[in-house]
Amino acid sequence: MNKILVFAGSARKASVNKKLAAVAAETARAAGAEVTLIDLADYPAPVYDGDIEAGEGIPQSIRDLKTLIASHDGMIIVTPEYNGCVPPLLVNSLDWASRPEGDEVSSAVFAGKKVAIAAASPGGMGGVRVIPRLRDFLAELGVVTVPGFVTLPGAFSAFDDDGKLTDEKTASMLEALVGRLVSSLAQ
Ligand SMILES: Cc1cc2nc3c(=O)[nH]c(=O)nc-3n(C[C@H](O)[C@H](O)[C@H](O)COP(=O)(O)O)c2cc1C
Repeated sequence: MNKILVFAGSARKASVNKKLAAVAAETARAAGAEVTLIDLADYPAPVYDGDIEAGEGIPQSIRDLKTLIASHDGMIIVTPEYNGCVPPLLVNSLDWASRPEGDEVSSAVFAGKKVAIAAASPGGMGGVRVIPRLRDFLAELGVVTVPGFVTLPGAFSAFDDDGKLTDEKTASMLEALVGRLVSSLAQ
């Protein structure tokens, strides 16, 4: 009941969202969850196109991602904000994963999953505008987002050499958010 899949909506090697996802994963482990931290760079897929799906089916990378999502009770998603919106990598990965196979209904893999969401940005707003958009998108998939969120402004200078958050207030907000997810999974 306590398995959490953690990933960021960026494939960039030096991604600050990946860094925050790694901190969130560690925080969830400390709260007693069994955690799998993945990198969407390992699950590449073409931009969704119905002709690709009709001709070649769902990419194996996405089928692997679906299997992973199905085998976890909850997720932590940490995303960049692109022009105020959810970035294409995250939309594309989740759109592909929503596609049914066999007797499945659309988005079956997401049904009832609980998710905590966060954003990181080098900017001063920390990507706060993406939060409601990601929440709406996830609701459409049948995901239940736990209350609250974390944003990390100034993210290029927010981590120490060990990848830890230097701002204690943000670290404790993340701890509280992850704690809400972990305790909601225990119910
Ligand atoms: C197309 C594009 C649009 C962006 N729009 C925003 C934005 O609306 N708000 C913001 O805070 N940062 C924006 N940024 C900057 C990203 O926050 C920055 O590139 C960040 O490092 C991306 O996250 P990552 O480090 O995890 O890859 C944008 C970047 C790109 C490439």
